[in-house]
Amino acid sequence: MKETFPGVYRLKAGLATENYAPGYRVYDEKLLKIDGSEYRTWDPLRSKLAAGIMNGLRNFPFRRDSTVLYLGASSGTTPSHLSDICPKGTIYCLEYSKRMMRDLYMVCEKKKNMVPILGDANFPERYAHGIGPVDILYQDVAQPNQAEILLKNASMFSPRYAMLAIKSRSINAVKSPKQVFREETEKLAGRFEVLESIDLMPYDKDHVLLNLKSKK
Ligand SMILES: C[S@@+](CC[C@H](N)C(=O)[O-])C[C@H]1O[C@@H](n2cnc3c(N)ncnc32)[C@H](O)[C@@H]1O
Repeated sequence: MKETFPGVYRLKAGLATENYAPGYRVYDEKLLKIDGSEYRTWDPLRSKLAAGIMNGLRNFPFRRDSTVLYLGASSGTTPSHLSDICPKGTIYCLEYSKRMMRDLYMVCEKKKNMVPILGDANFPERYAHGIGPVDILYQDVAQPNQAEILLKNASMFSPRYAMLAIKSRSINAVKSPKQVFREETEKLAGRFEVLESIDLMPYDKDHVLLNLKSKK
């Protein structure tokens, strides 16, 4: 087993993270005991960040003590792996679906460095209280105004890095994915430098993961 990025391990069969809450599974991942520690396999079909790593991501901004604001946390699949990767940090997990929030709360009960927040990513001023600046903004909300949402949250939370999962069909089902990705990237150009743009095929169709560094 090799540590490819801080807290991310490459196994023969894929990726894994060291379990922050030993014995606890979040989805159908496998738990593996290796040299006295427990690891959770990380499925690139269930997580765009894992898909990005499998597809050659080079710049990994997360550290053991990073503070992350995760927009679109859903039931906590990818946030739970970030909880493993940043055991001394905090993962603020924003989600606006009450249905998803129920599952997310259960994950946050076990993973104490995950903080659930019920709210709409379009209105950062409504959930900013108590969060403060963050190191990394991670966004996966599948909304037509994804770039605008990222920029609003960046103004509020001043991240040094951001990651944005873009689904071309959520933005425009008629334009080609390439054109949609180019237009979204242009909207972010004043605020962020694009470190990488990673196509998530074959794990996710018509998705890219933009890896961004703040210009401010
Ligand atoms: C594709 S899923 C995210 C999956 C998750 N990132 C993972 O990998 O585990 C998108 C989520 O974003 C949430 N969402 C969509 N628009 C939102 C908004 N404006 N504010 C907060 N959450 C939103 C949806 O309810 C959904 O749970």
